[in-house]
Amino acid sequence: MQDILDQLEQKRAAARLGGGQKRIDAQHAKGKLTARERLEILLDEGTFEEWDLFVEHRCTDFGMAEQRVPGDGVVTGYGMINGRLVFVFSQDFTVFGGALSEAHAEKICKVMDQAMKVGAPVIGLNDSGGARIQEGVASLGGYAEVFQRNVLASGVIPQISLIMGPCAGGAVYSPAMTDFIVMVKDSSYMFVTGPEVVKTVTHEEVTAEELGGAVTHTSRSGVADLACNDDVQALLLLRRLYNYLPLNNREKAPRRPSGDPIGRVERSLDTLVPDNPNKAYDMKELIVKTVDDGDFFELQPDYAKNILVGFARLDGQTVGIVANQPLVLAGCLDIKSSIKAARFVRFCDAFNIPVITFVDVPGFMPGTSQEYGGIIKHGAKLLYAYAEATVPKITVITRKAYGGAYDVMASKHLRGDVNLAWPNAEIAVMGAKGAVEIIFREEKKDPAKLAEREAEYKRRFANPFVAAERGYIDDVILPHETRQRLCRSLVMLKDKKIENPWRKHGNIPL
Ligand code: COA
Repeated sequence: MQDILDQLEQKRAAARLGGGQKRIDAQHAKGKLTARERLEILLDEGTFEEWDLFVEHRCTDFGMAEQRVPGDGVVTGYGMINGRLVFVFSQDFTVFGGALSEAHAEKICKVMDQAMKVGAPVIGLNDSGGARIQEGVASLGGYAEVFQRNVLASGVIPQISLIMGPCAGGAVYSPAMTDFIVMVKDSSYMFVTGPEVVKTVTHEEVTAEELGGAVTHTSRSGVADLACNDDVQALLLLRRLYNYLPLNNREKAPRRPSGDPIGRVERSLDTLVPDNPNKAYDMKELIVKTVDDGDFFELQPDYAKNILVGFARLDGQTVGIVANQPLVLAGCLDIKSSIKAARFVRFCDAFNIPVITFVDVPGFMPGTSQEYGGIIKHGAKLLYAYAEATVPKITVITRKAYGGAYDVMASKHLRGDVNLAWPNAEIAVMGAKGAVEIIFREEKKDPAKLAEREAEYKRRFANPFVAAERGYIDDVILPHETRQRLCRSLVMLKDKKIENPWRKHGNIPL
């Protein structure tokens, strides 16, 4: 018996070495951790249960029969993050460059299938040279098997991707279908075709980092949510993100009570909004001063900065926050910000996370580039996302809510549960100046008269009371009591239940 135990241990030790010490050293020399070291940081200590350590590829072409490495380039299994179950796969670049073979894909599919059966998230750590070239179509089939599972798991269990090395060609489409993508700066990249192909086809010269690095995808393309400086930072960040999420779509997000009183009054909010309606202020200040312990986990902070999205807690309960940011483009809605917020609202709705919306929006961004780019259908995405959402929806209008953007930003008419406004809110079709120039066009040549009309329009419409008279606003509140009002509303909405009509699926404008 002892012999067998020794043999097992030897076999395990060999498997754990992956592609061997030389390749592990090369990985470290690039500033990257190995697949196993990464899992050690991601998971609670001693909780990792590994599966399929002994799986090997079945390829015999190109001398592959002699090159078999137990585990076949991916470490899979399950473990805990802060005591909560999670399934993981971590690609091992030291084994065939982490390239995906048929067997490698089967290992990933196995943990995805199990995660679906028990209702727990999947986190994928990607570091791979792509399809295992020696296996040809068997490897492509493997990718498609993973893609199919990504799609079926979408909205059922949270799926998160961390890109920690190459991720190119078809390989990008698995992370692309997951809920969140975190990238590591300077050591990871994602692109459909690499710099060489780009040069051949379009004659553009571009580095891998410029084409698909972490900064590119978190600031230009919006493909990724967050960029981190190194592996450790990225893994620790993922642990924080995980704490906000429920395990699956039938569960609520975990509560994390804090010592922050729900009745905390924040007097400084009373002077947050400048008297001059054309002056900007930082909406992030309102968020940070309102949520538990000032802890706001922002997503996509460097992309479409005219809208803020992210997670926070109120009275210990996870909430999704969407907020116009007056500091950037006056907080208007455009193509990018509509898509960014729409996807976030849909994630929250799929996973039972209440949505809090802070509104200060002068309207949609005008211009040919927006119209030609399809602002109509992209703006409609956000409208659609809010309208179909059945989770608790609470909205606070801090200043402007103009035109169609008023409707879009979780208005009462889109089944907003609690719609509040600060006393200086302006809920109107447009700003006073623009409005009188249209209605009183014939008085345009008389500036005094026009100014009088403008003042009259402001008096009549640049306030929250016209909407409140109709019940579109449930109450006009003082800024300093915002936290308390939100927390109380959430308690009231705790057991909210509404259902949309049965359908195979809706047809969101894409
Ligand atoms: N299939 C099989 N083996 C692969 C592979 C793939 N797709 N990608 C990398 N490898 C192997 C390499 O042969 C090398 O093996 P070795 O250690 O035995 O020499 C090892 O993985 C490391 O690759 P290497 O090229 O030395 O690493 P690098 O950091 O210099 O470059 C890549 C990484 C991903 C840029 C490069 O390996 C590459 O271009 N790979 C092919 C990508 C591709 O075209 N994939 C198929 C289409 S999706």
